[in-house]
Amino acid sequence: MWVPACKRDDVDPDDVIGVEYDGVDYAVFRSPGDEYFATAGHCTHERELLCDGLVMDGEIECPKHLGRFSYATGEAQGAPVLVDLKTYPVKVEGDTIYLDIT
Ligand code: FES
Repeated sequence: MWVPACKRDDVDPDDVIGVEYDGVDYAVFRSPGDEYFATAGHCTHERELLCDGLVMDGEIECPKHLGRFSYATGEAQGAPVLVDLKTYPVKVEGDTIYLDIT
């Protein structure tokens, strides 16, 4: 099910924002090359909100214990994060970013 998440310009290049849909948190990323990605909004370690973390080199660093994930694949990059993030397909139509949250 595709749902509107945000506007293209809501996310700066090389950054992340948090969006909420139907009570569920998601993180939406924009790469330096203007590709968009989406993951679960909470860290798999202790459920910290990832939108408050630092984006660098294709990864999101959790603000709580500094665990890192690839934001394109959700892959956990090592302790303390051992469980990958769920990722969601993203499409851009006009100036709107949609997530497939099926
Ligand atoms: S809550 Fe994210 S690394 Fe611990």
